Formats: sequence, structure tokens, C-alpha cells
Amino acid sequence: MSETSTFFAEGGVQVSAPGRVNLLGEHTDYNDGFVLPVAIPQRTHVQAAPSPDSRFHVYSSNLDEHAEFEVDGELPDGYARYVAGCVHILRDHGVKVPPLSMKVHSDVPMGSGLSSSAALEVAVLRALRRILGLELDDVQIAQYAQAAEIRYAGVQCGIMDQMASSLADTGHMLFLDTRTLDRKILPMPADTELIVIDSGVARTLAGSKYNERFAECREAARLLGVPMLRDVTDVDALSQLPSTLQKRARHVVTENARVLAAVAEGVDGPTFGRLMNASHASLRDDYEVSVPALDTLCDMLRAEEGVHGARLTGAGFGGACVALCKRGQAAGIAEAVTTRYNQDRLLQLAGVLLPAPASQNGDSQPQPLFD
Ligand code: GLA
Repeated sequence: MSETSTFFAEGGVQVSAPGRVNLLGEHTDYNDGFVLPVAIPQRTHVQAAPSPDSRFHVYSSNLDEHAEFEVDGELPDGYARYVAGCVHILRDHGVKVPPLSMKVHSDVPMGSGLSSSAALEVAVLRALRRILGLELDDVQIAQYAQAAEIRYAGVQCGIMDQMASSLADTGHMLFLDTRTLDRKILPMPADTELIVIDSGVARTLAGSKYNERFAECREAARLLGVPMLRDVTDVDALSQLPSTLQKRARHVVTENARVLAAVAEGVDGPTFGRLMNASHASLRDDYEVSVPALDTLCDMLRAEEGVHGARLTGAGFGGACVALCKRGQAAGIAEAVTTRYNQDRLLQLAGVLLPAPASQNGDSQPQPLFD
């Protein structure tokens, strides 16, 4: 018996939670705004049983890694920090959590902007709810999961991902007001389906830049004298802000308006798609969270006749794009665009490896793929 398997007797509880793809309403949730995510079929599975000793044990079958922690001890690093964060949050709310062994397996791609961390947090909290018989509803699960991420992973995230993982399904849009948590489950625009393609560009700056955007939005709201940017609906009101803050705030104000336009009665695929295209432009130009690979991927998607619109999804700085297309065409378009995109990247890589034209002094410099 391996060292790991001694900690993971079969039995206990088994639960799961999905990742999400956000269709509209990006970087609005920590401004009390509106969001429109859909759950994806990929899920994170957690199996939990009493620990054989006084410590918590977590095993990730994706990474083949085993971590240990204590409820009052130091937080582990990596994925296990999210697990420990959920245990710590329950402890902070007065719940006595006995040591457990947990096995984690996830189909949600990591670092693609599809909420692998929220899926892990929600799945862990579902496991703890079940094994301890806690009376927590799905909204409380999302709130605890968000608190775990802010307090123990250090990301000032909003509540969209955790609400989507806890409450959304794969066939409908979850229209959520992140201020009141009022929500509606809405059908997708008629005769459409979704394509999600990972750019393959790792979201290396996501954490630090995300917190920077969070701070910029808070500062813009303070200068405007409103509690949150959600409270501004007129872009003309932003003209008094310094230029960078004006751009950040303009994204938030126009993005909230795009979500509200998208959920209006009778919105069709082409109209919804135009809102997605406008969202991407705003994220690229005003919020400055896109990267060249995401812009290229969106352009390639939009060039397909069956695509209504495309945008980056999630926090940005890499990760995935989402497109809305005519029903029945997603698989064919996804394959064509993925092939073209991969060829394009290979050509760019070849450009990096081949010597650039000689400069005047005869030196040649390799050109970076992306800066
Ligand atoms: C991350 C955060 C969310 C949200 C998105 C951007 O996924 O966890 O709360 O802010 O970025 O819309």
C-alpha cells in the first residue's frame, strides 16, 4: 500500500462542483455589478472521510500530490491552500471541523479563467456540509467559498465564480446582481450554443494585476463619491477622473449596461454576440486585461460565419475565450479555429527561433513571441 493510500480509506462522502464560463459582466462583481455566467460540464470531485490521525490530508490525483495541514496550523501552498482555506473559514464561523482525509480530482482546466479554484472551494464546502451535517444553503456555500479565497488565497475576488459553481447549471445563464444576490435562471438566446477555447497562455499576472484593478475601481468610486462603481450609470459622470481611472470605470459602467441589455426580453444571438464583441473591446482597451493571444483567438472566432460574437472570459491576462454561435455549429467551428490558432502560434514560435533580420551592426536578435 502506498504512503498516500493509507490516508484515504474508501467510503466517506463524494460530491462535486462545476467550473463556469462567464458570458458577459467581467470585472463587475467586485463593483457590486451584474454578471451572466453558465456552468461548464467539467467538474471538481471531492471524496472526504475521517482522517486516520490528527491532521488533515489532501491528495490531488491530477497532480499526484499529497498535502497535510492542521486546523490551527500554517496554510499549505498550492491547490491545498484552497482546501485549508475552506476548513479555516468554517472554523472562523465557529464550526468544529474534525480532521479529514480528502481526495480531489478535477476536470476543470487550471489557470484558464474557468474557475477551477471556485469549483474546488465549492466542492470542498459541499463535502464538509455533507459529512458534518451542516445547515448551509447554496448561497452560504458560495459566500464562504468567496471569503476563503479572499482571506486565505489573497485574491480580492467578487462572488461571481462561487455563485456560478454553487447555483448555475450548464443549460442556462445565471443572471446575478452581485449587490443583492438576486438572481434569475435564464435560457440561452434562441438557437445558439457556446464554444470555449483555451489560448494556452498562462495567467501569470492574474493575481497581482487583478488586485490592482480592484484597487483602481475602489479609488474611482471614492473620487466620484459613490459607494461602488455599480452606482454610476452615466459615462459622462466619469470625465472628472484621471485618465487611467476613467478608462477602468468606463469599462465597469458600460459592462453593467451590456449585461442588462443582454437579459432584456427577446434578445437574439446576433444582438447578444455584438454585446460580447463590445465587451472584449472594452476589456482590451479600457480595462487592459487582454493579451495578444486572446485578441487573435477572438478575431479568428469572429471570422467564422456561424459565430455571433466572441470575447475573453474570466479575469484575463491569458486563459480562455468564449464565443456564441449558431446551434449545431460549435464542434466544427471549435475544431477549425483551434487548428488555425495552433498553426499561427507555431509559426510565431518559429519566428522566435529563427534569427531576425540582421541589424545595421550585424547583430541579430530573436523576437519575443508576446511581450
Ligand atoms: C475572477 C474572479 C471573479 C471575477 C472575474 C472577472 O474570475 O474570481 O470574481 O471578478 O475574475 O470578471
